[in-house]
Amino acid sequence: MLRKRLLIPLILSLVTFGLVVACNSGTPTGQISSSSGEKAATAAIPIGAALAQTSNVALLGQEQVIGVKIAETYFNKKGGVNGTPIKVIVQDVAGDEQGAINAINTLITQDKVVAILGPSLSQQAFAASPIADRAKVPILGPSNTAKGIPQIGEYVGRVSAPVAVVAPNAIKTALKIDPKIKKVAVFFAQNDAFSKSETETFQETLKSLNLDIVTVQKFQTTDTDFQNQATAAINIKPDLVVISGLVADGGNLVKQLRQLGYQGLIIGGNGLNTSNIFPVCQAQCDGILIAQAYNPELDNPINRDFVAAYTAENKKAPPQFTAQAFTGIQVFVEALKRVDDKNKLSTLSLEQIRQQLNQEILAGKYVTVLGNIAFTPEGEIIQDKFSVAQIKMDADGKNGKFTFVEN
Ligand code: ALA
Repeated sequence: MLRKRLLIPLILSLVTFGLVVACNSGTPTGQISSSSGEKAATAAIPIGAALAQTSNVALLGQEQVIGVKIAETYFNKKGGVNGTPIKVIVQDVAGDEQGAINAINTLITQDKVVAILGPSLSQQAFAASPIADRAKVPILGPSNTAKGIPQIGEYVGRVSAPVAVVAPNAIKTALKIDPKIKKVAVFFAQNDAFSKSETETFQETLKSLNLDIVTVQKFQTTDTDFQNQATAAINIKPDLVVISGLVADGGNLVKQLRQLGYQGLIIGGNGLNTSNIFPVCQAQCDGILIAQAYNPELDNPINRDFVAAYTAENKKAPPQFTAQAFTGIQVFVEALKRVDDKNKLSTLSLEQIRQQLNQEILAGKYVTVLGNIAFTPEGEIIQDKFSVAQIKMDADGKNGKFTFVEN
């Protein structure tokens, strides 16, 4: 009886892994050559990544895909999960809720992944992460920072620190740079869950510091023309502008504020935190302050390896979204090892692996490129290292970099 109970899940899980590897035969991971020269599938463990590769959200998603690819290579070189390689399967969530729903359904039912990293936006997570939760598939947000994401369900967590702990750092830094700041203009994208959540945190922080919010201007993430809102704000002569939006809209808003003559400090929120904003606001990106949940200068062995791997390909320091995506895969790999240590993965059904993996994710402590992290029982990341960076553009306005002003 016992033998039968063990044998059936073993066969099922090997069939599952074999099928997945066979379906994703574009890369050599998980394949070996048989003596006849034909490809034979080995049991690579499928991990899903639901990330934006198209639409304006790809301006964030591209950096995340780089992070999961580096992680796949890095952790497989280190032996994968107790000797079994992982295979990261990326599905495009594009820019909206339906894209995320489709990607997550495909990863669960077709790719039969053990867990999912994604989706790219909070707006997508509120619509699509409940699907993973209901299917009892662990899902970790790599960049979802709105309030309430881990509370979606038992299987939903995140490695992206929430707006409540990240955003206030930027305002404190702005005040250090210019202690005379008093009047603040706030802008936010009203069609985006993260932007609405972040602006609440920004506004609470501003009030707690006795700063005057002189105007709150709303826009849409799909907008390209911000003349009305920018003019209305500039007329009140603010000392500081604080923006919660995404890359394309946020970058265009910054550009138009500068073109209309605004010269004070600008804080951009987490949705603007990528060098992909440089082509949008070009020279006018210069000076934007953005709080960071990752600092490439963190001195621990895994971050040194990560920075070296990223820099070798990209000739610059890794950005936050890449670091968070890398961390998500690390969490899965380390938690899978602990599942395997207790009960060999090959003896477990896919459902058992997903369930036990969720428990191990939440129970673990991880030394990562973000510093030491853990999770609350609800799946919220516990992280203590944050920084603030300021964008410095080159004279020609084509390229630039994030300079860390606060550690
Ligand atoms: N931090 C942004 C979000 O949560 C990308 O949607």
